[in-house]
Amino acid sequence: MLDFLGTLERTHMCGELRAADAGQPVVVMGWVNRRRDHGNLIFLDLRDRSGICQVVLDKELTPDGHLKGEQVRPEYVVAAVGKVRLRSQDAINPKMPTGEIEIEATEIRVLNDARLAPFSPADEAIQNEETRLKYRFVDLRRAEMQRNFWVRHEITRAIRESLSGQGFLEIETPILNKSTPEGARDFLVPSRVNPGKFYALPQSPQIFKQLLMVSGFDRYFQIARCFRDEDLRADRQLEFTQVDLEMSFPRQETVFAVVENFLVAAFAAAGVTLPAPFPRITYDDSMRQFGSDKPDMRLPGLTDVRSAFSDDNLSTLQIDPALPVVALRILNVGELSRKEREDNHPMFDKNKGAKFIDDFKRLAKGFPEAAAKVRELAGAAEADFVIVVAGDPAHHIKASDTKFEGRLSEREMNVYAAAGNFRTELAKKYADRHSGFVVTERVVAEADPPSGNRPGKAIDGSAAFQPIWIVDFPMFEYDLGAAKWMPAHHPFTAPHDADMANLVTDPASVRANCYDLAMNGMELGSGSIRIHRKDVQQQIFASLGISEEEAKARFGFFLDALEYGTPPHGGIALGLDRIVMLLAGAPSLREVIAFPKTAKATDLMADAPTSVTEQQLKELNIRVVLKG
Ligand code: AMO
Repeated sequence: MLDFLGTLERTHMCGELRAADAGQPVVVMGWVNRRRDHGNLIFLDLRDRSGICQVVLDKELTPDGHLKGEQVRPEYVVAAVGKVRLRSQDAINPKMPTGEIEIEATEIRVLNDARLAPFSPADEAIQNEETRLKYRFVDLRRAEMQRNFWVRHEITRAIRESLSGQGFLEIETPILNKSTPEGARDFLVPSRVNPGKFYALPQSPQIFKQLLMVSGFDRYFQIARCFRDEDLRADRQLEFTQVDLEMSFPRQETVFAVVENFLVAAFAAAGVTLPAPFPRITYDDSMRQFGSDKPDMRLPGLTDVRSAFSDDNLSTLQIDPALPVVALRILNVGELSRKEREDNHPMFDKNKGAKFIDDFKRLAKGFPEAAAKVRELAGAAEADFVIVVAGDPAHHIKASDTKFEGRLSEREMNVYAAAGNFRTELAKKYADRHSGFVVTERVVAEADPPSGNRPGKAIDGSAAFQPIWIVDFPMFEYDLGAAKWMPAHHPFTAPHDADMANLVTDPASVRANCYDLAMNGMELGSGSIRIHRKDVQQQIFASLGISEEEAKARFGFFLDALEYGTPPHGGIALGLDRIVMLLAGAPSLREVIAFPKTAKATDLMADAPTSVTEQQLKELNIRVVLKG
């Protein structure tokens, strides 16, 4: 019963028809979203990427079409020829953009049938993600997914346009090359022509973009695919996309302005107004105030409440007086029952030398003054849930008390980090009680991204999306085991000019000229001003204990290039998938990547990875030996 398309030409998209089109002859094509049989009248909801419109098959008007209408099933591919007409008043569906009209069909052609998938794209929420991923081609038909990819497209386009407008040139860099220094595991690709040798897929275009600056391109960008063999999380995929850029002669400020410009444009493309310039915080302050280097600014910060307790109090409470005592508060959660509090305990990592007091009633009974002071210092309202996090003297861990002037010790850091982690975990758990995350959900739901050529209307995203630059990261971390200073970033990151003199004499005080961009508790981007002078590079290698031979072996060609006239340069890379995830209000990157991998690093649809034939392995001079 299948028909040919023949010479039939589509005149309209399903979702674009409106009351003003009444009387128009039209040809639409799409998938049968739903079908309702009312005897002499059959209604087909026809869907394409623009939306859905209702097609009426009237037995009297088109007996042949009606007969076909009896046979079509959901997801059949159909062309409908007919005329747009206004629906009767009582049949108007205000929930559908096309709800005022329907198509009175004179002919339909069934272009293809469809097997019944385990779920229908017409369903709103599909619980089983494995099934969704296995039938990804069906899953992607769902309105939510179609919207996500529209948003992704519009964001990418806006970023390209913004960067092009700011003088950046888009240049591609190799996929098959040498290991890049991003610190994750490489994906390796064997070379058939060079037996026993391997290419590495790029973890980022880092070295190449720096070389492009040596080559005089001045401003480079790339919407770059990157590959990292790391454990997957909601915001991590094996393959992901960076908005990667590098520029010559920049100050940190120059990079910030470029990024702010393109992000404002990207958010506008998704229907959200993002205020710029973005605020900044130093790494140290971020740790002290939020217990994280990617602070979620939608939630109240940590408060130092050490002064609320006397030394006696601390000793009775078995709190380490030498470590920070901080309070975190979750708005509007109220005092929790004992059972509720106990349920929260597994969220706190007790193995890091930190402990907490979440029973405020008991604290108030035993230490009324301290408890009142804590609430006062934290600015807690009656309905806010407050927890005190502090150092646990009883719990001995392998962390160092070693303190370098102006830096937090490892144990201090652990207390802040434990509090910071608890703060965001609890905020997630009680998201329905405080407003922090709800605002974001509302803005995402109400944002009006453009669809096709229709411009969207932007709404205020200042409360919902809170970007922040994190600056002044320390240049070195002290490795107790090795008893030496190690770079905290890749070894081409420049120190602040002002700190250069301290490289050897006081490494603890040296700040890296690098920066992160965080938004809503997620790291969106990371970059730095690079080292461009050989003498500085040598000094850094020397201070890191990397010998000249070792440096040559690892980065030889790049170090050579540095000697051929390298301009001062710097840049940054932002995770495009993460930007889209935020703007789509999606819980994971898998919602905004067309064909993503599962947490077990597999593609359930394509069934990758797979074994390969003996012949293929032989050609590559590879033998597979499975462990155990
Ligand atoms: P970095 O390694 O911090 O920096 O990466 C930059 C940004 O890329 C995103 N990102 C990821 N997104 C999804 N899945 C992953 N597995 C993943 N890994 C990273 C994050 C991150 O902030 N070459 C440097 C940049 C520079 O110095 O210019 C780099 O790649 O959003």
